[in-house]
Amino acid sequence: MNPRDPRWAEIDELQRGAVEQVRRRAEAFWREYERDRDQGVLAAWFVPRCWREIDYVFMLGEVIRRYGLGFERKHITALSRQLHDEAEHYEAVGRIIELLGGAVPVEPPASARVWSTFLWESLDRHRLGAIAAWNMSETAATGTLDGIVEAGRRYDLPEVVRVYEGIVKEERFHVGLGRLMIERYAVTDEDWDEVLRAMRGIAAIVLESHTAVEVPL
Ligand SMILES: [Fe+2]
Ligand SMILES: [Fe+2]
Repeated sequence: MNPRDPRWAEIDELQRGAVEQVRRRAEAFWREYERDRDQGVLAAWFVPRCWREIDYVFMLGEVIRRYGLGFERKHITALSRQLHDEAEHYEAVGRIIELLGGAVPVEPPASARVWSTFLWESLDRHRLGAIAAWNMSETAATGTLDGIVEAGRRYDLPEVVRVYEGIVKEERFHVGLGRLMIERYAVTDEDWDEVLRAMRGIAAIVLESHTAVEVPL
């Protein structure tokens, strides 16, 4: 697939818009946090983030199991590396939540359910469906990551800084891998219909999902 294909122009535009929206909403969250520095609210903010990490582990495992042998072996390896990264992110973001006095999610929190359901449906529909959807979602999330590191420095949360500096680096690999998989394996018009459906769909959902603060039960 030629990266200059006009379909990439639509994808790039969707991604640019999603990153910007998510960045603005994240900045608004930190301005709000600045006022009363409520650790419970901060813990709740990390809950949907934490859930997405473990949901990626489950989805990557399922993509590999169901579709992996249709990909080149090196791509099975790369997806497996991403799976391992996401498991470490779940562990590390879970540790941050516990440090802030919150509870690590072990089921989809209400604020991540629409996002999760859409990704799993996309996974069922086509071998590139989930990969396309999470590529959009992970790209959008980059709009919050640098802000989390900066906030961690500002509010003296060294674990947040350390963990998210690592996540920022690994997300570059994940976003690049998703794009590479689409370039390599989206061939027919049907493939492209499914890729664009997944990306447009999640772009509409992502703003809520990436800015939600889980209401503590
Ligand atoms: Fe992650
Ligand atoms: Fe990731």
